[in-house]
Amino acid sequence: MAILVTGGAGYIGSHTCVELLNAGFNIVVVDNLSNSHPEALKRVTELTNKSFPSYFIDLMDRDSLDHVFKEHHIDAVIHFAGLKAVGESVQFPLKYYHDNLMSTTTLCEVMEENNVRQLIFSSSATVYGVPQHVPIDENAPIGAINPYGRTKQVIEQILHDLVQSNPNWSVAILRYFNPVGAHKSGRIGEDPSGVPNNLVPYIAQVAVGKLTEVSVYGKDYDTLDGTGVRDYIHVVDLALGHLKALLKIRATQGVCTYNLGTGQGFSVLEMIQAFQEASGRTIPYRISNRRQGDIATCYAETTKANTELNWIAERGIEEMCRDTWRWQSMNPNGYRELATLAQKG
Ligand code: NAD
Ligand code: UD1
Repeated sequence: MAILVTGGAGYIGSHTCVELLNAGFNIVVVDNLSNSHPEALKRVTELTNKSFPSYFIDLMDRDSLDHVFKEHHIDAVIHFAGLKAVGESVQFPLKYYHDNLMSTTTLCEVMEENNVRQLIFSSSATVYGVPQHVPIDENAPIGAINPYGRTKQVIEQILHDLVQSNPNWSVAILRYFNPVGAHKSGRIGEDPSGVPNNLVPYIAQVAVGKLTEVSVYGKDYDTLDGTGVRDYIHVVDLALGHLKALLKIRATQGVCTYNLGTGQGFSVLEMIQAFQEASGRTIPYRISNRRQGDIATCYAETTKANTELNWIAERGIEEMCRDTWRWQSMNPNGYRELATLAQKG
């Protein structure tokens, strides 16, 4: 029996693979490497001392995916694979709708054909759009404000329809808040291609000297210091949330939705300060205009996940910044450096 992890070479996927292997699960990884490097999977093996099969295929390649299900006894799927850049989704909406929807529907069809009906899906707090109040609970109105978020919203609806059509399915929809941090070893972490869009990877690249200063997007929000407030969650806590969700879907049927966050918000300036303390580096920053589409404040109501999954985020922002810094300073160019060295060698 094995858990199929789609997008397992990616940021959250690789950390979840480590926790699954450490907890004694067998895993099979599928990833097309469009936003990741196979080195991440090598390091998962190094960290856990366990090897596992990996298939570098696209989820939309139905025959190859079916082959994976025929080769292995899969009993549940954790579905991370997808495109996730908000700005890019505004520029190329058709690509986002095509890839995210097609890969998920193909996966579900192949699961159904192979009698595998336990699924965990990576959704996002972005489905809440502009929240009417915080903390945001799972019953808050949905209304994503960009194509990426709308793909998550539509997929959530598809999964509800699927469960409605066949009650033997058991699905957990996990809405992540802002995942940051890295494995404490510093061997795996977030490896954005190009200039990072998200705050913490950007701060980390300023700290390590790859970028010169952080642009703080707006200081006139209605928050404690005028900068945007978010619910940052350590990627290892997030990974552990998937293990709890796995126990839940094994024991129940139907579809359930959970916020995975800490329930606490921190401002941009608080994050810069925390990162300075964790890294011992000065992080130059400059106040700039608001980023289009940003909201003032967003943090999770986590009671449902705490009680129904018996899960709680345990790692605070100091640990998030310390672990990000360890990863960033040990791997200033992410996994790519290694590929370049191999080519030169
Ligand atoms: P990531 O890009 O690091 O990982 C996604 C992985 O999926 C990559 O390795 C990529 O190569 C692979 N992939 C993409 N399309 C594929 C396809 N068609 N077939 C096979 N593999 C494919 O992203 P991540 O940060 O680890 O995010 C994982 C999931 O969580 C995504 O669905 C994302 O939308 C969601 N999510 C992420 C965040 C975040 O801030 N990181 C927040 C909320 C939700
Ligand atoms: C963004 C996405 C969201 C996605 C999430 C994944 C947008 C509008 N939203 O959320 O859909 O699910 O990433 O983690 O892109 N900031 C700066 N300077 C920077 C970068 C960010 O000041 O260089 C600020 C932002 O204004 C925000 C906070 O930092 O207040 C966090 O930003 P970011 O890390 O991009 O996450 P979100 O905007 O919450």
